[in-house]
Amino acid sequence: MTSAHSERPPVTVRVPAKVNLELLVGPLRPDGFHTLSTVYQAVSLHDDVTVVDDDEWGCTVTGPLADGVPTDGDNLAVRAARLLEAATGLGSPVHITIRKGIPVAGGMAGGSADAAATLVACDRLWGLGLGKEELERYAAQLGSDVPFLIAGGTAVGSGRGESLAPALARGTYHWVFALAEGGLSTPTVYAECDRLRRNRIVPEPRPGMGLMGALRTGDPFELAEHLRNDLQEAALSLRPALREVLDEGLGFGALAGIVSGSGPTVAFLVEDLEAGLDLAVALTASGTVRDVRRAQGPVHGAHVIPAPID
Ligand code: C5P
Repeated sequence: MTSAHSERPPVTVRVPAKVNLELLVGPLRPDGFHTLSTVYQAVSLHDDVTVVDDDEWGCTVTGPLADGVPTDGDNLAVRAARLLEAATGLGSPVHITIRKGIPVAGGMAGGSADAAATLVACDRLWGLGLGKEELERYAAQLGSDVPFLIAGGTAVGSGRGESLAPALARGTYHWVFALAEGGLSTPTVYAECDRLRRNRIVPEPRPGMGLMGALRTGDPFELAEHLRNDLQEAALSLRPALREVLDEGLGFGALAGIVSGSGPTVAFLVEDLEAGLDLAVALTASGTVRDVRRAQGPVHGAHVIPAPID
């Protein structure tokens, strides 16, 4: 790797996954997206994305969850870097290395997270000094939930999910994520949602007051009462086996279980760290899930970290 900038040190950005505490899906818009009202929470499953100057644009994906991620120009991280370069005219080719800790095509915004991290990393590498708001504007051009992965924390998303307002949330919540074999395609799940409700009139979605109130208490028992995902029925219709995973988690003591985003990852809310450990052990032993991860939220959005040691 030699380039005019090769003396510049690489930049590494850590980016979280997200879970939708509430995902209300409104009508299909003329542009092919659905009007959403959603409450995002950033959780402590991370990808680490490193950018370094190179002679040409490129991407490598590493880690136990790397399978199935494209490394060519279709990779959302490469598209993010090229978008920022084209928009500012100040960038130059980079090689992007993604260490994946977020499930691929799992409904946890793994691809969007990598795009968000790449924007933050290239901004630093190229010395652009763009603010969070400006980076979030570029992020919105890459995907509906990319801006939230820059913002982090807990936030309300409207429009197609890209328009953010902060949510007042207290406390830390503990989650157990049940990873499934294979992914689900987001457009396919939205299409199934449309098919299932083709004879219903779909109202414009509004954030649920119950959920916002629960977040202010910081009490996981309150929050458990208000988790909702309008895509869950569609994900279950495409993957009926997820019903069993949901039932198992609840049987093992989770406060609530919900399909994460478009699935197929299932998110379980638990009372505390210890309950999370117990549930993770029980789900692993049950053999109904591919893998299990524990996490907590809310956590920060994409941020620069010291270079990871391999
Ligand atoms: O915005 P993003 O690229 O993540 O969206 C992926 C796909 O998910 C879209 O092409 C669309 O099919 C579906 N989608 C939707 N309505 C939204 C967000 C996503 O229909 N608000």
